Amino acid sequence: PDMLFIDTDPGVDDALAILMAHAHASGIAGLGIAAGNVGLHHTTANALKLVELLDAPTPVFPGAPQPLVRRAADAAFVHGADGFGDTGYLPARRVAHNEHAALALLRLSHAHAGELVVVALGPLTNLALALSLDPQLPRRVARLVVMGGAVTGQGNTSLAAEFNIGFDPEAAHIVFSRWPRFDLVDWELTLRHALDFERFDHWLAGDDARAAFFSAISRKARAFNRMQQRPGLLAADALAMAVALRPGLITRSDERAVTVELDGGLTRGATVVDWQRRSGAVANARIVMAVDQSGFEHLVAAALGALPG
Ligand code: BDR
Ligand code: CA
Repeated sequence: PDMLFIDTDPGVDDALAILMAHAHASGIAGLGIAAGNVGLHHTTANALKLVELLDAPTPVFPGAPQPLVRRAADAAFVHGADGFGDTGYLPARRVAHNEHAALALLRLSHAHAGELVVVALGPLTNLALALSLDPQLPRRVARLVVMGGAVTGQGNTSLAAEFNIGFDPEAAHIVFSRWPRFDLVDWELTLRHALDFERFDHWLAGDDARAAFFSAISRKARAFNRMQQRPGLLAADALAMAVALRPGLITRSDERAVTVELDGGLTRGATVVDWQRRSGAVANARIVMAVDQSGFEHLVAAALGALPG
């Protein structure tokens, strides 16, 4: 059975993904925490709130407090100053584990060798650190799913870069160049798989504690998506989690070589895809191009204690 390790920077869509994992995964070995959407202090506190809400035994391992090389701007304007919509929820009583996320991942990759599914929902700093300490890590991991990138250059942070890659391009470069093969759920796929606002509101209206919590923390992000005239809630990490939990939901994918631009003045953090197969580089990514939308929605609705539709 699959055992998940989720590296994440909660974050509203991270929260939805974590709820989905707890509802549907056969096991969760731990949450590695990254800085990204907001600072590490907040992302750690938010992860603890979630596992407390779920009354789950899932350990929380804080990781790197900043990107490997350059400081980067956060995404508090989408997720709220505290990353969870500034609702004033009290801090959790739970405390984080005193082991770095990168070290926890290495340890758990031995304990669950061959069955660990790593799901990266934030900047790739912790994964890059783990890989740097132990280049053999991918051999022990069954699968890596990365939410990141904008495969034809339609970024959401700079014009060309998606947030998770743009926040720590060097870390992403390390992972993309050293991990032999991973699944990539990019921002442009997210744009094609928005969650209809009305259906989503209906799921949130149920009396499940998870729905009430998510309704509160996502209020600002939903308003932001509406204000941007999106067709629905864009939940990148939830989509990546659906792909991690149910690879059978992938209806179309492309195997391609993908690398990360580090130096471009306008394109730092862009994911450059060899669409034309001109470079001779071996494909390192299975780029997910389409997902079964109703299967995705089913996983989301169930994680909120609701019925899809
Ligand atoms: C990604 O950036 C973050 O803001 C989201 O949580 C998601 O992981 C989307 O670009
Ligand atoms: Ca995230």
